[in-house]
This record gives sequence, C-alpha cells and structure tokens, in this order.
Amino acid sequence: MTQITLALTKGRILKETLPLLEEAGIVPTEDIFSSRKLVFPTNRPGLRLIILRGSDVPTYVQFGAADIGIAGKDVLLEHQGDGYYEPLDLGIAQCKLMTAVPVGSSVQKGRLRVATKYINVARQFYAEQGRQADLIKLFGAMELAPILDLAHEIVDIVDTGNTLRANGLEARDEIADISARLIVNKAAMKTKFSELQSTVDALTRVVMK
Ligand code: ATP
Ligand code: PRP
Repeated sequence: MTQITLALTKGRILKETLPLLEEAGIVPTEDIFSSRKLVFPTNRPGLRLIILRGSDVPTYVQFGAADIGIAGKDVLLEHQGDGYYEPLDLGIAQCKLMTAVPVGSSVQKGRLRVATKYINVARQFYAEQGRQADLIKLFGAMELAPILDLAHEIVDIVDTGNTLRANGLEARDEIADISARLIVNKAAMKTKFSELQSTVDALTRVVMK
C-alpha cells in the first residue's frame, strides 16, 4: 500500500488543523496532545501524521521526507523553498505579517535596525521600499527589541494587536496576509497522484463549505 506522510505544524495551527482533518475523514488513532510521539498513525491505514515545528514543515516536504504538509504562509514566505506546490489556503490561523514601532515614534532618519525572525521576508520588504535596514535575527519575543533599544522596529505576526499594545508598540506597514496553507511535494504529486489528490480534494471540500 502507498504510504502518505502528512507533516503538521505543532502549537497554535495544530489545534485548528485537527478538526479540519476530522471533517475530511482523517483521525489520528491516539491523542496527539497527550503523547511525546512525533509520528501518529491515522484511521486511514496508508496515511500517517508527523508533528513538527512550523519552520521545519516546508523542509520535510521540499525534500520529500513528507509528501504533504500544513504550515503558516509566514513560514513559507521565509523558507523560500522550491520543490512543493501550495494548492490550498486552509483559512485557519489567520493573521498579518507587519512592521511595528513604539507608539508615536517618527520615521527613523539614520540607518534603521529591525529585529525579526523573518529575515528573508524583511530583507525583501525593506529593499522594495528602498529603505536601508540592518536586520537582527531573533527567535521569539520580538516585541521586546524596541523596548530595550535593540532595534527601532520589528517585523512580526499581528492578530488582535494585544501583544503590541501590551508592549507599547503599534503596527505600521502590512507586509502580507497570513493563514495556514497546504503544501505538496512536487515529485510525490506525480508518483502518488491519486492518494494525494484525494487528500487535497477532501480538504478542499471542507474548506469551501
Ligand atoms: P515555533 O514553534 O517554530 O517557535 P511559533 O512559536 O511562532 O513557532 P506558533 O505561535 O504556534 O509557533 O505559530 C505557528 C503559526 O501560527 C505561525 O507560523 C503563524 O502562521 C500562525 N500564528 C502565529 N501567531 C498567530 C496569531 N496570533 N494568530 C493567528 N495565527 C498566528
Ligand atoms: C504570536 C506572535 C505575536 C502574537 C500576535 O505569538 O508572535 O507575538 O502572536 O498576536 P496578537 O496580535 O493577537 O497579540 P504567540 O502567541 O504565538 O507566542 P510565541 O511568541 O510563543 O510565538
């Protein structure tokens, strides 16, 4: 039997993904949240789930270690990888990728320092704006960087704006609309066409409902 491996993003996206999968008829045979396992069989004998950090999902799918995956568009924009299709916007984990600055701060005259975990996205954004920016890579809590003068502004995810407000920041420029996307390895789409297409179709029907 053909084996399909579906890579899921743990954390926030996973909570919204499992109900979608269930509606598409895919149910893990044990509780993911109460287990330390990383591989989970499902009710569909040819389909297993793996649970990864979001930024590793496109890597597994790009190299074909997973056939199909679910990751945030922010992660896909930053990954800049090849080797997979992005056939479906799942419409979950919606937010925006934005720049943010201390409330009321004026436009930086000199060289701009920007803290972000989205280095590639930020490089492209500031280049398109014709603004020189020194980028500082962080792995979390970007909102802290302007408070401690590590950076003048940040590039980060904004949803309700609560995290920005709580830290004296305000959103400035919108860079991209973000939501979770389905990605499929290009080679697997040929070699395992019917299994993968039926999974994409099932999820498409759920999302379009
Ligand atoms: P990692 O586990 O790799 O450190 P993370 O802590 O950013 O990543 P989550 O916060 O669970 O992981 O976010 C996973 C994805 O969920 C992000 O890539 C993004 O697409 C989306 N996301 C992040 N924050 C929000 C938010 N506040 N509202 C909606 N979606 C969000
Ligand atoms: C994400 C993101 C922002 C926050 C934005 O962090 O990095 O900090 O959500 O959401 P808001 O506009 O609704 O406040 P998350 O809560 O996932 O925590 P993290 O720092 O662990 O990623």
